[in-house]
Amino acid sequence: MNDMILEVSNLGKTYFLENETIHVLQGIDLRVNKGSFVVISGPSGSGKSTLLNILGSLDRPTSGEVVFDSVDLFSHDDACLSETRNQKMGFVFQFHHLLAEFSCLENVALPALVNGSSPSRAYQKAQDLLDTFDIGDKRNRLPDEISGGERQRVAIARAMINDPLILFADEPTGNLDEENTNKLLDVFVGLKDDGRTVVLVSHSLDIARVGTDVYKLKERRLYAV
Ligand SMILES: Nc1ncnc2c1ncn2[C@@H]1O[C@H](COP(=O)(O)OP(=O)(O)O)[C@@H](O)[C@H]1O
Ligand SMILES: [Mg+2]
Repeated sequence: MNDMILEVSNLGKTYFLENETIHVLQGIDLRVNKGSFVVISGPSGSGKSTLLNILGSLDRPTSGEVVFDSVDLFSHDDACLSETRNQKMGFVFQFHHLLAEFSCLENVALPALVNGSSPSRAYQKAQDLLDTFDIGDKRNRLPDEISGGERQRVAIARAMINDPLILFADEPTGNLDEENTNKLLDVFVGLKDDGRTVVLVSHSLDIARVGTDVYKLKERRLYAV
């Protein structure tokens, strides 16, 4: 059995601007096993978002390879990448990107409805996820009517509704105080304990303590910590 879900080999990313060439990533190797909680930290500007966006197929590398679920991602066109993303990947960002006019339950159920799930199944699963993340009683609130920490938990529920093979998180605790940061990290740890795979990037070194596999991004390269 292959328990590796993501393998990155010799990855590089360079931005070519009009008057400037910016080398952001170089010679990055990374293996992510199913059920692991990978945490990558590094200072602001070190290339965390660039790396995560490439792993999540939102951006293409300049060199190197990313094999996800046994498929060489970047040998495929954008339409295929988008399909892979929708079917197999979940994303959470610093800003929740919830739809303001929809209730929390509707926000979580929406990707399942778009995916062709029946409304009864989609709403039941959305409710189950909200319950799991301890915000089931907030289901009928609008995103503006709950706290920042609760909104991020709703965003994670939405990212998980289609059972992605991997959840990518970019500074998900960036706007939260310490108490809510810890609560949110508990949600990620719970997902990992449940056998889910999480890759999280953050400038905060403190967050690394919750990871099963911890790395540091520094001067374009990735180091195991
Ligand atoms: N689209 C882009 N075009 C040019 N430079 C970029 C682009 N995106 C990021 N960069 C540069 O790449 C470096 C890494 O950025 P980023 O990945 O956002 O870092 P982090 O997430 O660690 O703060 C920075 O120097 C940033 O200015
Ligand atoms: Mg970033």
